[in-house]
Amino acid sequence: MPFESLRAFVDALDRAGQLRTVAAQVDRRLEIAEITDRVVKAGGPALLFTNVRGSKYPVLTNQFGTHRRMAMALDAEHLNEVGARVRKLLDLAPPGSSMGERLGAVMRLAPLANAAPRVVRDGSCQDVVDREPDLRKLPVLTTWPLDAGPFITLPLVITQDPRTQRFNVGMYRMQVYGPRETAMHWQRHKHGRAHAEAWGARIPVAVAIGTEPALTYAATAPLPPMLDEFAFAGLLRGKPVELVKGATIDLLVPAHAEFVLEGYVDNEDLRVEGPFGDHTGVYSPADAYPTFHVTCVTHRRNPIYAATLVGKPPMEDAWLGKATERIFLPLLQMVVPEIIEMNLPVEGGFHNLALVSIKKSYPGQAKKVMNALWGLGHMMMLTRVLVIVDADVDVHNVRETAWFVLNNLAPERDVVMMPGPVDDLDHGSYTVAYGTKIGIDATRKSAAEGYARTWPPDMIMDPQTRELVEKRWREYGLDSIAEMLQPDSWSGQGP
Ligand SMILES: Cc1cc2nc3c(=O)[nH]c(=O)nc-3n(C[C@H](O)[C@H](O)[C@H](O)COP(=O)(O)O)c2cc1C
Repeated sequence: MPFESLRAFVDALDRAGQLRTVAAQVDRRLEIAEITDRVVKAGGPALLFTNVRGSKYPVLTNQFGTHRRMAMALDAEHLNEVGARVRKLLDLAPPGSSMGERLGAVMRLAPLANAAPRVVRDGSCQDVVDREPDLRKLPVLTTWPLDAGPFITLPLVITQDPRTQRFNVGMYRMQVYGPRETAMHWQRHKHGRAHAEAWGARIPVAVAIGTEPALTYAATAPLPPMLDEFAFAGLLRGKPVELVKGATIDLLVPAHAEFVLEGYVDNEDLRVEGPFGDHTGVYSPADAYPTFHVTCVTHRRNPIYAATLVGKPPMEDAWLGKATERIFLPLLQMVVPEIIEMNLPVEGGFHNLALVSIKKSYPGQAKKVMNALWGLGHMMMLTRVLVIVDADVDVHNVRETAWFVLNNLAPERDVVMMPGPVDDLDHGSYTVAYGTKIGIDATRKSAAEGYARTWPPDMIMDPQTRELVEKRWREYGLDSIAEMLQPDSWSGQGP
């Protein structure tokens, strides 16, 4: 059964031995971050800090911090199961349409009415309505020493397109400036920002903190603009998300959220945001972002404040990214059908490196795949290094992939430099948001691709010899060498 709320997920984590409660008094400035960093990097449990200095609310971190918990969040044993669910749904959609249209069609199909959110009259997110809000009551974390202040790190920012009435839910960090003001760090390629531009001077905004985990994940997912995250979360969890009308605002908000901040972003009230220690492992520089004015805070009785810590990998968001890799592979395959597998290694921060295997059947196909992936909207277009290999290479085995690429490469022929948009947080580029990406075509080459020689045959032992050795293995007296019989201990994390 999908989780109805964050606390239902927390209870399930507890029952599964995936949660530790920290009762010792801790500081929201740096101390919780340092504890969380150590536990995340050790592959440890979710953490519920129940005694946070100066706050009556507990803080939850690391809810998604392992493959198991990320899968649990989406009601699965393994993330591949969630990918398979999406693939099955896509098979129902009419062929020939674009990725977004096809997913939209899937959402409209009768048996999938689950995707449409359900509007309810009362929501526990409004157990308490505070029209004189003070954000200092929330245990917002300061996560790194040079951060400009406390940042809300797991917010679901809800906006509506004034032209189409479509909702968007995006996760954009928010620096707390004072009792009723925060920054809104929606970067230039994001849909919340596009909504803000369409509204003009002021845009109504609601921010949910601590929701059912499928919805929290959906806020991070690179969806096309025509698909709203409420519907996508419903589709993923097989049950509609429940929404309630905001207490003071004409927006729908998740009915069972722990906290909801209601207010508006003033696009003309630009203030300095940052620095902030980010996914890149360095501080993103201070820059001008618009201000969110909070006019009301609603919350559940005894709310839990949910937060995450970003920084040098591996961090909790690695698993949100892995979920995206698995869920979006079937979608990518609809538009680029030759793609067999994809690995976005954690070290690449998800848009710095994509390892992609393809079934190649004509010259130049790897270059075509690069163009297709860079031509897609959202985060794929920002991929800094794209590596394309043949179908028989296991891209989840990073060692094998590196070996294959390094062996096959003629740099002048195989490396493509592509100028274009890069991520706002990309500090390596000469200019903000514009730079160069590289594609490496490591597929086997044909004469049509200028390879005048014969591609050397792969070394594979013949089946007879393999069978013989298997049969006679005991006779060799090698059974005691246990490590010889172990699979490679460093073969990446697997899909
Ligand atoms: C923990 C976390 C923090 C994030 N912070 C930001 C941020 O501050 N600004 C931003 O534009 N994107 C941020 N992102 C990425 C967006 O959430 C992601 O690109 C999402 O798809 C945006 O939604 P949208 O496509 O509806 O705009 C963050 C992602 C995660 C997982």
